[in-house]
Amino acid sequence: MSTRKRPEELRSHRWLGVSDLRAFGHRSRLRQVGYDTIDWAGRPVIGIVNTWSDINPCHTHLRQRAEEVKRGVLQSGGFPIELPAMSLAEVMVKPTTMLYRNFLAMETEELLRSHPIDGAVLLGGCDKTTPGLIMGAISMGLPTIFVPAGPMLRGNWQGNFLGSGSDVWKYWDEKRAGKITEAEWDEIENGIARSFGTCMTMGTAATMMAIAEAMGLSLPGASSIPAADSNHPRMATQSGRRIVEMVWDDLTIERVLSQSSFENAIKVHMAMGGSTNAIIHVVAMAKRAGVQISLADFDRISRKVPVIANVRPSGAFLMEDFFYAGGLRALMNELHELLDLRAMTVTGKPVADNIAGAKVHLRDVIHSTSNPISTEPATGVLYGNLAPRGAIIKPSAVEKRLLKHRGPALAFEDYNHMASMIDRDDLDVTPDHVLVLKNSGPKGGPGMPEWGMMPIPTKLVKQGVRDMLRVSDARMSGTSYGACVLHVSPESYVGGPLAFVKTGDPIEVDVAARTINLAIPQDEFARRKAAWVPPPPRYQRGYGAMFSAHIGQADEGCDFDFLSAHLPVPEPEIH
Ligand code: FES
Repeated sequence: MSTRKRPEELRSHRWLGVSDLRAFGHRSRLRQVGYDTIDWAGRPVIGIVNTWSDINPCHTHLRQRAEEVKRGVLQSGGFPIELPAMSLAEVMVKPTTMLYRNFLAMETEELLRSHPIDGAVLLGGCDKTTPGLIMGAISMGLPTIFVPAGPMLRGNWQGNFLGSGSDVWKYWDEKRAGKITEAEWDEIENGIARSFGTCMTMGTAATMMAIAEAMGLSLPGASSIPAADSNHPRMATQSGRRIVEMVWDDLTIERVLSQSSFENAIKVHMAMGGSTNAIIHVVAMAKRAGVQISLADFDRISRKVPVIANVRPSGAFLMEDFFYAGGLRALMNELHELLDLRAMTVTGKPVADNIAGAKVHLRDVIHSTSNPISTEPATGVLYGNLAPRGAIIKPSAVEKRLLKHRGPALAFEDYNHMASMIDRDDLDVTPDHVLVLKNSGPKGGPGMPEWGMMPIPTKLVKQGVRDMLRVSDARMSGTSYGACVLHVSPESYVGGPLAFVKTGDPIEVDVAARTINLAIPQDEFARRKAAWVPPPPRYQRGYGAMFSAHIGQADEGCDFDFLSAHLPVPEPEIH
C-alpha cells in the first residue's frame, strides 16, 4: 500500500484549498448552503452517486441509505456530497433500460469529473444501474465503493413463495391456460413485491450486485443483504467510513480491478446461475478497465464452474434464503479452489481475507461444487452460420429435450408481428417449431429489449407445452427461463444472418457442440444476403440518434464506441 495522501494532494484541493478568485467562489457557495470551513478543509470530498427516484420501487430506500453513507463519511472525517443520477427503473423505463445504461455511465463519469470529488460511493442495484454506475466510475478512475440496493423480501401468495419475474411468467401461462382466475391473478399482483429492494430471484439485479462484490467493489457480503434487513443500513454506513480511508490510501478502482477480479466475477456468475444480461455488462466493464474479456471466456469458465446457488430461475429458492444460507461470502468460499484469492478488493485486502471462515448454513440453498444443482452449465456460447459472432443460451434453465434440436423456423419480423400472431388459434405451429424474432438487437430494438423469452403460442400452452426453442437478437430478463437463444450477433437490423431466416427454414441447435445453424443451401443463403436492404436508423434526433450511431454489438458489450476505450480524459481546467 502506498503512503497516505496529504490534504494538499486531494483532487478537491484544486477547487477548495487554494487561494484564488475561483476558489473564493466555490467556498462562498458552500457557505451559502450552510457549510463552514471545518466541514471541508483538509477532508476528502465523497460523491454519493444516488439512483433513487420516486418511480423506482427497487431504490425506494436509497434516499435513506444515502444519509447512512453520509453518517459513515462524517465519522471518518470526510465531506459527503450527494449527486442524483438517472434511476433506470427496470419495469418502468421504455422501450428498455438498456437504451440508457450508457447514458447513466456517461452521467456518472461526468458527475465525478466535473465536481470536486475525491472518492465515490455508488448507490444502485436495479438491473442496468449497477453496470452503468460502475462503467462510469471505471472510466473516471477515483477510489470507488458500490453499495448494492439489495433484494426485496420474498413474495407471498396463499402461503407460497413468489419470485420476481419467474413466477409472473409461470402464472401468466397458467392464466392463459385457464388454470387460475382473475381474482387469483389479482392476489398475485398484491403479493409478488412486498418490500423495497430489487428483484429477489437470480435476475440481472442480484447477478450484477454479486458480480460487483466478486470484482472487489463492495464490502464483503454486501450484495446478499436484503434491502429491508437492518444489516443493510449498517453496511451503507460502513461503506461511507471505508471510502474515506480508500481516498487517503489512494486505492483507486483501477488498483482494485484486474484480469483476476473479472475472472472471479465470471466464476461467481456461473456458480450463481446468473442472468445472461451480465455477459454484456461484464464485457463492457472489462473494456473500460482495459481488461481483455470475451464471450469465449464465459464459455471456457462455464465448463469448469458448476451452478451451486439453488435460486430461481435455475433453482428453487430466493435471495432472502441465499442470505440466510451464508450469502455470497459463503458461496465464494465454496469456490475458493477455483478463484484467484489474491485479487484486490475495496477493503484493501485480497479476496482470501474477505471470505475466510465463511460457512454455508443451509445446504439446500448453497450446494457444494461436488453436488451442483444442475449438470448443465449456466451459460453456453453458440456459434454457427446463424450467429457468426456468437449467441448465448442458459442450459441450466432449458428443458433437456431441447438441448439438441432441429425444427422448422416460425419467423417474426419484429415484436409487434410476433405479438399479433402468438395468441391465434389458427397459428401453424407445433412444439418442434423454432420461434425466431428479428429486429430486437442493440440497433433494431432499439436497445436490445428483453423480448428473448417469447411467449409460447397460446394454442400450445393449452396443450401443456411450456418450453420451445426460441432464437432472437434480443436479451431476456434474468428472471426468465427456457430454451432461449439470445444476443445473436451481429443482429438482424445490421444485416446479421438472422435477417435472412424465413418461416419453414430448418434451424439446428446443439448446445453440447455449442453450435447454431440455419440449414439451408449455401447459394440460397448468399442470394438472401445479396438481396438484403438496410433499414433506416430508428432515430433521427436526440439521444436515440447518438445511440443508433455509436452502439456496439452484444459480443462487444453494447458500449458506445467513443466510451469503451481505456484512455485518459484530462482533468477540468478551473478558471
Ligand atoms: Fe428493479 Fe427487477 S425491477 S431489479
